[in-house]
Amino acid sequence: MKRRELLAVLAAGAIAQVSTGEALGSPAKYTKEIELPKPKLSGTVSLEDAIQRRRSVRRFRSDALPVDSIGQLLWAGQGITSPDGKRATPSAGALYALELYVMTANEVMHYLPHGHRAETRETPDMRPQMQALAVNQTSVGTAPALIAVAADPGRLTQRYGARASVYSDIEAGHAAQNMLLQAVALGLVAVPVGAVDGPKAAHALGLPSGQSVVYLIPVGFAA
Ligand SMILES: Cc1cc2nc3c(=O)[nH]c(=O)nc-3n(C[C@H](O)[C@H](O)[C@H](O)COP(=O)(O)O)c2cc1C
Repeated sequence: MKRRELLAVLAAGAIAQVSTGEALGSPAKYTKEIELPKPKLSGTVSLEDAIQRRRSVRRFRSDALPVDSIGQLLWAGQGITSPDGKRATPSAGALYALELYVMTANEVMHYLPHGHRAETRETPDMRPQMQALAVNQTSVGTAPALIAVAADPGRLTQRYGARASVYSDIEAGHAAQNMLLQAVALGLVAVPVGAVDGPKAAHALGLPSGQSVVYLIPVGFAA
């Protein structure tokens, strides 16, 4: 590529980033790393029962979710399930384009699949801001735990070229479905929310550049 063409491409990229509001500053810093409670590998609700009972529910009690439930949901979404590092949900080329975040009343948590850990930071309540970025859906602002599925299609570009963002969106769907079914198995309710301004949500959450929020999953106990 000629220098002039390269500059034009870089400029177009910069404009696209600014106009979509993608995370441009330095990523948020986490202050603590925690080990999540070991995920349970058996339960009392069958897979068939969970599929049958899953419904999108948008109203929640205000009770906080216990950390073991949050950990279990994250494990279902991206947990390591094999000695070679493969995860609970399929990934194009096993390149793992997703990151999972959880917002509660006073904290943001970033899931670290290796070792089933999370890095956390205390924050003012981010849920109202996410509600505003999700066409003001009250489910987003009122769930005791709000999971953000973020995708970084750039991890797939080298291998899959123009298919990268389709593949990372598909990965997000796999992860979301696992978490929705896990929620049922835990006696919780949830709803997948696609109507979110992903780049702005990523910016608000201080995600590293390249990541965008694809899906929100408000989750809690049924009202
Ligand atoms: C890609 C996608 C995006 C969705 N976005 C929203 C949303 O923004 N808000 C919402 O309340 N529900 C959302 N839903 C949930 C659907 O409304 C719900 O799945 C549908 O009404 C069927 O109901 P059920 O999930 O109970 O089977 C979304 C579902 C999908 C698959």
